[in-house]
Amino acid sequence: DRVIPFHGEHQAGILTPRQAAAAFVAFDLTVSTPAEAADLMRALTGRVRFLTTGGTPPNLGISAPPSDSGLLGPDVPAGGLTATVGVGSTFFDVLGIPRQRPAKLRPMDTFANDDLDPVRCGGDLVLQLCADSRDVVLHALRDLARHTRGAMQVRWRIDGFDSPSRPAGASRNLLGFKDGIVNPAASESDKLIWVQSGAGEPAWATGGSYHVLRVIRMLVEFWDRVTISEQERMIGRRRDSGAPLSGSRETDVPDYTDDPKGSAVPLDAHIRLANPRTHATDASRMLRRGYNYDLGTDVDGNLDMGLVFNAFQQDLDRQFVAVQKRLDDEPLVDYISPVGGGYFFSLPGVRDRSDWYARALL
Ligand code: HEM
Repeated sequence: DRVIPFHGEHQAGILTPRQAAAAFVAFDLTVSTPAEAADLMRALTGRVRFLTTGGTPPNLGISAPPSDSGLLGPDVPAGGLTATVGVGSTFFDVLGIPRQRPAKLRPMDTFANDDLDPVRCGGDLVLQLCADSRDVVLHALRDLARHTRGAMQVRWRIDGFDSPSRPAGASRNLLGFKDGIVNPAASESDKLIWVQSGAGEPAWATGGSYHVLRVIRMLVEFWDRVTISEQERMIGRRRDSGAPLSGSRETDVPDYTDDPKGSAVPLDAHIRLANPRTHATDASRMLRRGYNYDLGTDVDGNLDMGLVFNAFQQDLDRQFVAVQKRLDDEPLVDYISPVGGGYFFSLPGVRDRSDWYARALL
């Protein structure tokens, strides 16, 4: 059994390497005071502490509902589970504490090529549940929904899966390209991922991170009819090896100063627009932790699948928004369609047994 430590300065599930299965679940509060929200956070903390550690739930006897769904048998494994809790901008409105809102937090912006369905956007609170298998994720979701009933209810949800590395290296997204090759090093977290004290943010937010979720559908029927070389020019990397078009291995780092006209990596390739690798754009890098999703077929019989774009950063505008604006008219937009998502603030970590989510806020 794999146990990922729950307590810490920061929440697990951010720097944690992607587990195999995930659920992203947005909730709306059904309570309206900070005191009630504190009860909710204490309940969530207790259950997540148990679920991520594993153990044997008590048997409450035949005349009471079971303390646990039993989905994983009598002994609950930790199963590599992480639960990462975030709050949306509306959390602060509902509770009447707008001055405590993180400085950049707001409802998700609508970008040039978005086709957002309001039913799949926003939420007062978000849970990112990730584990080594899908049943562990579902067990955690059922448990947390049950123990927080009366304080919040599900608004929307998207489940994700990670593909194994084939043949090696990063796993692939559903366009067939390796995804998650380039990410900040762990040593850069304090300058790119975690909110630092001061910096115009409320004191309670230190150690948290802005969390961007975007449900991006892929128009795979169209994509699969595009030649490989055109696909590769849109991404800027080889499909088989993941190498940048200027290199030969997945880990090769492109150097665009060598290629000012884009003869190796086109100027409008996804990786070049997303990270031009200039001094000025260095601080816009973010941590991406995306998952593939599959929702079957739509009413017209088209395959409904795509990417749960999932990114963590210190500053929403300096990072995600700046990068998204650079990508607004990239050639890839003809093959993808953002349909949902939200901006959230991932809470600072729960430090020890006496601490709970958002204690410094509530
Ligand atoms: C890199 C695909 C959406 C930001 C990549 C790579 C692929 C890819 C294949 C290269 C491998 C890697 O370094 O991970 C996609 C697809 C998307 C999508 C299929 C939509 C369905 C986005 C969005 C953003 C973004 C919405 C941010 C606004 C980045 C960044 C990199 C990257 C920052 C790393 C570039 C580098 O440092 O070289 N993406 N991406 N991507 N993508 Fe995306």
